[in-house]
Amino acid sequence: MDRFEIRGGNRLAGRLTIKGSKNAALPLMTGVLLTDQPFVLRDVPELADIANMRRLLAELGCSVEYTADNDVDSPGGVLTMRAVDETVSHARYEVVRTMRASISALGPMLARRGAARVSLPGGCAIGERPVDLHLRGLTALGADITLDSGDIVARIPRAGGRAGRLKGARVFMGGPFGSTVLGTANVMSAATLAEGTTIIECAACEPEIVDLANMLNAMGAKVEGAGSPRVTIHGVKELGPVDHRIIPDRIEAGTYMCAAAITCGDITLDNCPVDALMAHMDRLHHMGVTMQFDASSDPMRTTCRITAGRVLNPIEVTTQPHPGFPTDLQAQLMAVLCLADGNSVITERIFTERFLHVAELGRMGAQLYRQGSTVIVSGVRRLTGAPVMASDLRASACLVLAGLAAHGLTTVNRVYHLDRGYERMEDRLRALGADIQRTSEKEAQTGIASGMA
Ligand code: EPZ
Repeated sequence: MDRFEIRGGNRLAGRLTIKGSKNAALPLMTGVLLTDQPFVLRDVPELADIANMRRLLAELGCSVEYTADNDVDSPGGVLTMRAVDETVSHARYEVVRTMRASISALGPMLARRGAARVSLPGGCAIGERPVDLHLRGLTALGADITLDSGDIVARIPRAGGRAGRLKGARVFMGGPFGSTVLGTANVMSAATLAEGTTIIECAACEPEIVDLANMLNAMGAKVEGAGSPRVTIHGVKELGPVDHRIIPDRIEAGTYMCAAAITCGDITLDNCPVDALMAHMDRLHHMGVTMQFDASSDPMRTTCRITAGRVLNPIEVTTQPHPGFPTDLQAQLMAVLCLADGNSVITERIFTERFLHVAELGRMGAQLYRQGSTVIVSGVRRLTGAPVMASDLRASACLVLAGLAAHGLTTVNRVYHLDRGYERMEDRLRALGADIQRTSEKEAQTGIASGMA
């Protein structure tokens, strides 16, 4: 398994281009199941999760061709797909277990093919990941859903001896933690081919939902209100071809903003979606980080320069559904707050177990006190490099950020977690001045054997 070796203390400075959004790309990709027409996505990042989704869609009867951008300053490659065999409708456990977002194939596949069998995604490091709201929504549209041997088995009841069609309905998609992003994506996508009108109440408002609605409308769907808690979808008989450019990755951008903050750096981000990062930028601003961006250009694809000094103010932050502070940046901001000048309070309201990075930061000298879904971060003058273990995608990014600022060598193990959501992170950080190498355990053992380590 690969690891990162980071020798901290370097100030990061320079420029980088933000890639297309992983969390937009994954539900967008399943849109190919809604049509038999050509389907093109641009600014597709080269990530493990995207590769998994390509494999899943190929198994579901789609031709899939990916042209990588091979240019670190490009936002991503081009994905050309088409559903060629629509008789397949089983998303196997072996694929789904590696990536929870596979669940977003359920709605599109059911709506067009009339049946879908998708393995129930398991839990993960950040907590139990239920799909009850997904099933509530699709059932409201008339699907007959059962569970069989760990699989969700969904079908549209036949009508008058003919293949049935989903029926528009009004459905409340709110759960104990607010709305569901992929649940909204599933129901919104399925409803585009339903008979009649669907109203989703308590829909997720994330930018990725807006991007999906824009793509569906470009295919001929009639989706209104995406980005607000009430989304209305007027069903149509079929959807056409599309050539869609994915929005930039707000979580990748927010992570590199934290890299500037934690290293007293000066980083300029191109293709930066500041419009989707207002909550994160508000918190960084209150910490004393300076952000300048070109307000005249597209606020979803602008240039933003982030600079930070040695003193960072402590803050309070609570994660919430969009437009609140994103749970996917909680771990990264915690790393920065470990070096703030005072006590900060971080409360996690979306995934209450999303604190596996706390113990690892403690190994680096951070002073953190967890009480349930809240962590008190008592700022320290310095972090010390140490071997640490990545547990999930964003916790990995947190530990890399801490390593960039820590004195001495930090070894972040199991960086395969990181490769799910950050393209060539070590290369891009090195280009900004970080002292960071990717090594494999074998190399490291060889180093120990030859006395090099
Ligand atoms: C998406 O996951 C993102 N993943 C997550 O990013 C992100 O953390 C999450 O939204 C919240 O913003 C992708 O887009 C691929 P949810 P999703 O359904 O849609 C509960 C990352 O790091 N819930 O919005 O699966 C759930 O337990 C990943 O890039 C139900 O109760 O998350 C959670 O507490 C991690 N029932 C809350 O809702 C359901 O049926 C939000 O989950 C579904 C969810």
